[in-house]
Parts: sequence; structure tokens; C-alpha cells
Amino acid sequence: MIGIVLGTRPEIIKMSPVIRECERRGIDYFILHSGQHYSYEMDRVFFEELDLPEPNYSLDVGSGTHAAQTATIMTGVEDVLVKESPEIVLVQGDTNTVMAAAVAASKLQIRVGHIEAGLRSFNRRMPEEINRVLTDHISDYLFAPTETARGNLLAEGIPERKICVTGNTVVDAVYQNLDISRRKVDVLRDLDLAPREYFLVTAHRQENVDNRARLKEILKGLDRVQKEFSLPIVFPVHPRTEKRIQELGIGTDGLNLTKPFGFLEFLQLESQAKVVLTDSGGVQEETCVLGVPCATMRYDTERPETLEIGSNILVGADSRRILEGVRSATAWKSGWQNPYGDGIAGKMIIMVCAAARPQ
Ligand code: UD1
Ligand code: UDP
Repeated sequence: MIGIVLGTRPEIIKMSPVIRECERRGIDYFILHSGQHYSYEMDRVFFEELDLPEPNYSLDVGSGTHAAQTATIMTGVEDVLVKESPEIVLVQGDTNTVMAAAVAASKLQIRVGHIEAGLRSFNRRMPEEINRVLTDHISDYLFAPTETARGNLLAEGIPERKICVTGNTVVDAVYQNLDISRRKVDVLRDLDLAPREYFLVTAHRQENVDNRARLKEILKGLDRVQKEFSLPIVFPVHPRTEKRIQELGIGTDGLNLTKPFGFLEFLQLESQAKVVLTDSGGVQEETCVLGVPCATMRYDTERPETLEIGSNILVGADSRRILEGVRSATAWKSGWQNPYGDGIAGKMIIMVCAAARPQ
């Protein structure tokens, strides 16, 4: 049996192809939801839109400090794993849910499969970097999305036999949902937007939005973009960011702030945007797959492939660089090759898991 653990928006989206493959092959599996994300638009909407089965277990851990949240997830995951005794636990990405579940499973001597293994920003000030490194080093199956990620793992001494380059399940998720999105939603019409005549923004990284000066500088950068291009800026606001904007009383005039969108709506907005500005990991990948220029409001990225092929530019949290980055990105031609695989990562991952011998 496979235990699939997830807990946040990107995990639900990027695990969806894996869950679909388990369903298609009639694999014995269960879904354990940590409840790290719980607001409707960060959680349930994805189960509904992506037609995913209900989680078999929901821990409802909610928000908290890193240690409190991680510890609560570990305790809850341990209980379920003791009861279910799966042969393998699959986790995806770099959140507290991922690291907590990986630690709990490995100490019960249950094998851990880490999807999206080997990503490195080489910036240990990011909580996600700590989660990635720890998870990779206690995992038994490392599903690396690219050769670069594989190289990072080898450089840290992880044995080659544990690593399998699969591509990123984000490609599967985009391919599986783009047509559905075109058929089911028309968010450009709903928001009165014309293709390639708006910018799309997301921002939620702790190091960006929990720092007043950085958040203000990002908003100033967006304002400069708005003034220069006179085009709408659509900004679905992550709950962390919404909380900070309110607490800090920062002005957001001129920006089209909305609640987070469902995946079908967001995918459509991404695919038609002039440029996407973001600090999200998944959004850097999706824009690359969709052929849309991306300006990443960070100083480093664990997705260097996007910089190398020219779909992405790092603009930091600096209003001048944000404007200059957007200026240059508007001129890019989107003929780049997607480095994240051909949309069969979910199939490959389940094939490897199904072939694993019982311990
Ligand atoms: C988490 C992940 C981050 C990932 C992001 C995806 C960690 C350390 N961080 O960050 O890597 O990129 O999810 O979006 O695991 N909140 C709500 N409703 C929710 C969830 C959160 O209101 O459904 C608010 C709460 O005020 C909470 C804050 O957002 O305190 C932050 O949530 P948390 O899950 O701690 O971190 P994220 O910023 O979402
Ligand atoms: N996303 C979404 N609605 C939104 C913003 C983002 O569905 O309003 C999706 C996006 O398509 C991507 C994922 O959320 O698949 C990225 O999640 P997030 O940025 O929260 O986390 P990260 O990838 O940085 O860990």
C-alpha cells in the first residue's frame, strides 16, 4: 500500500497526477491531508476542480510556528502510519508537511519517496530549503525532476541507485487540466481582460512578505509596472500576504487584489498573461511550461533551469529591478524547451513504487 501525504495548495496540485495514476492502475493507496492549508480557496477548491478523492485522513493541524506545526503533523502522521502500515509514503515538495511526514515515516522504517527531490536554492534562510535537504537525506526514493536536481543530490553524497529522474508532476498537472480549464471557465471574460494585456502576480514567500520593507518595495515595483504599461495587474493574494498587508496597513491602490483562484482559473490567467510576476516555485515552472515570460521576485531560485532556457528572470524585491525585468521579459520570444519533462512523471513514479519489493 502507498500512503500519499499532502497538506498545502501546491502539494494537492502536484500530487494530483500521482493520485490519478493510482486510481487508474487500481493501486492500494490512501491520502493523508495534514490540514496545513485549510481555507476553501487554498484547499477544497482543488479537490473539487481536479476531481480528487476525499482524503482518508485529515489531521486539521492548521497554522502555527514552524516547530509547532511540524511537531503536530509528525504526531498525527505517526498515528496513521502505525495503523495503516504502508510499504511506502510519498511526499511532494518542500513544505513543513513534507518534512514532518518524511521524518515520521522514516523513523517507523517505512520507505519514503520524495517527489521533486534535489531542488536547491542554496539559501538556508528559506524554511523550504531546510525541509528539502532534510527530506532528501532521509528518503529512499528520490524522484528528481531534472538532471540538475539529480546532480545536486549526487553532490551531497546521496547514492545514485536511490535517484530517478522523472520530470516534474507539474507538467502532468498542466497538460491534464489546460483543456478542461478552457472548456469549463472563462476567467478573462469574467474579469474583463484581454489576452496578453494584463500582468499576473503572486507573492507569499516568508522572506518577502513577512518583511515590511521588502513587501513595500515589491508593491512599489508593481505600481511602477502599472504606471509604465497602463495595463491591469491581477493579484490573487495568498492568505499569508493578505494578513501582512492588513497588519502593516500598506496601500495597494491601482492593484486588482482578489482572493486566490482555483487551479483551472489560475492556469487560464497564467497562460494568457503578458508577464507573470511571482515568488512561487510552482508558478516559475508552470509559466515555463506554458511559454509565458516570468519575472521572479527573489534573489535566488531552486529552479535554475528556467533561467538557463530564458523563461524566467530574477528581479529580487527591488522596485527598479522589477520594472526593468518586466520591460525585458515583455520582449522575449517563447520558443524555449520545457526542461521539466513530457507529462508522464506521475506514471513513472507509480511504476517505480509498484515495482518496489516489500521490505
Ligand atoms: C506554505 C509553505 C510554502 C509553500 C506555501 C504554498 C512551509 C514552511 N511553507 O507557506 O513552502 O510555498 O505553503 O502556498 O511549509 N493561512 C490561511 N489559510 C490557509 C493557510 C494559511 O489563512 O489555508 C494563513 C495563516 O495565517 C498562516 C499563514 O497563512 O499563518 C501561513 O501559512 P503556512 O502554511 O504556515 O505557510 P505558507 O506561507 O502558506
Ligand atoms: N495557484 C492557484 N491559484 C492561485 C495562485 C496559485 O491555483 O491563485 C496555483 C499555481 O497554479 C501553482 C500553485 O498554486 O500550481 C503554486 O502554489 P504556491 O505558489 O502557493 O506554492 P509554491 O509553488 O511556491 O510552493
